[in-house]
Amino acid sequence: MDSIRIQGGVALQGKVRIHGSKNASLPVLAATLLVEGRSFIENCPRIADVYSMVSLLKDLGCSVYWQETGLVVDSTQVKRGEMCREAVTGMRSSLCLLGALLGRCGELVMEHPGGCVIGERPIDLHLTALGQMGVEFTESGGRLQAVASELHGACIRLPFPSVGATENVILAGVAACGDTILEGAALEPEIRTLCCYLQCCGAYIEGVGSSRIIIHGGRRLYGTAFAIPADRIVAGTYLFGCIGVGGSVLLECAPEEEMASVLSAAVQMGGRVCTSPEGIYIQAPGRPGPVKIVTAPYPGFPTDLQSIVLAVETLGRGCSHIEETIFENRFRIVNDLRKMGACIEEAGCRSVAVRGVPGLRGARLEARELRGGAALVIAGMMAEGETIISGCPYIYRGYENIGRDFRELGARVTSV
Ligand code: EPZ
Repeated sequence: MDSIRIQGGVALQGKVRIHGSKNASLPVLAATLLVEGRSFIENCPRIADVYSMVSLLKDLGCSVYWQETGLVVDSTQVKRGEMCREAVTGMRSSLCLLGALLGRCGELVMEHPGGCVIGERPIDLHLTALGQMGVEFTESGGRLQAVASELHGACIRLPFPSVGATENVILAGVAACGDTILEGAALEPEIRTLCCYLQCCGAYIEGVGSSRIIIHGGRRLYGTAFAIPADRIVAGTYLFGCIGVGGSVLLECAPEEEMASVLSAAVQMGGRVCTSPEGIYIQAPGRPGPVKIVTAPYPGFPTDLQSIVLAVETLGRGCSHIEETIFENRFRIVNDLRKMGACIEEAGCRSVAVRGVPGLRGARLEARELRGGAALVIAGMMAEGETIISGCPYIYRGYENIGRDFRELGARVTSV
């Protein structure tokens, strides 16, 4: 079942529940390594990246099991300086384990996290910041060794608000001796969620939600029950999907308070948005209006929804401009969309102009990364005829079941 088959041209109707946030779950699950005893992490999404994190935590000695709609994690058995020496494989998608393991074990060896199709994904900001906290890094044979004889607080300024680097500093900071002052912290909601979990466990963190966070390290942390908020990127994916094919959809539990830039773009594109305690209600006539999107760190327009808007605007009424400022190679689906009949002009590697065409034709496509794959699903729903998308395990990294969700909204989507 690695492919999805779509018969396009059907408007969406109904409601869909938005599952827990991938990018909030991963750092919170990593943080359980710093906590004595058991935590219950409610509303964890059942997605491949969470399954990978669960495997990594089990390899490190944690007891982890699903209980109804959440994960129970107990890291009591994680011993300092034992398994951490072994290479922790597959950590690229969960780099936030770096800060947590250094806080727990004081050392680790990991595969050097390589790049991926959307960019080089360097980790220099992580290494520099953690280096200021007493961590020594050595690289050999594609592996990265990190040792901190004594993790200590520091005054750190991030030159770019890296989400992952912010998370690693916070995770190391709660375990470090003394205080860590982090300037230039990322503002993404996932950072606030991580801090809230740690505070529930007993951590003393000031400036949560701001770009200046103070972590008072060295306090003992105890397990707690904690709920992961809904995934703002999944909600945005389904919201723009409705704008692309037309219809009216209730996005249950959608975190509208985290989606101001997304809702603003949706309205510019012709969507009618109503928010309520139930979630976000979106109505769209189909054939979106033109829009100018420039991705930016939160609260700017999220890079993770750039590909989805690109796909939707291929049938737009006019010419849209999209500029990607976060990752250097996030227009990978341009040629796939052109294969379907889209009219897209690239202006350098960071900008494209999309001129709406009367229709897209179905095609055989391949997903090569998470959000681009989701964008191709939406393009297939907008197209006339049949589209088959292979490589869907990429999509399952961040969406529990995108085919089922769109099928339940009326789209003709099946897994094959
Ligand atoms: C997180 O990645 C998310 N992943 C990404 O979501 C998201 O796109 C990104 O933040 C931006 O919001 C998770 O949370 C698991 P960054 P992260 O560090 O932490 C450069 C998805 O689809 N950079 O904020 O890796 C980097 O190359 C994924 O769910 C350095 O140069 O993002 C990029 O250009 C994709 N050096 C920019 O900063 C560093 O040491 C943003 O990276 C670190 C990053």
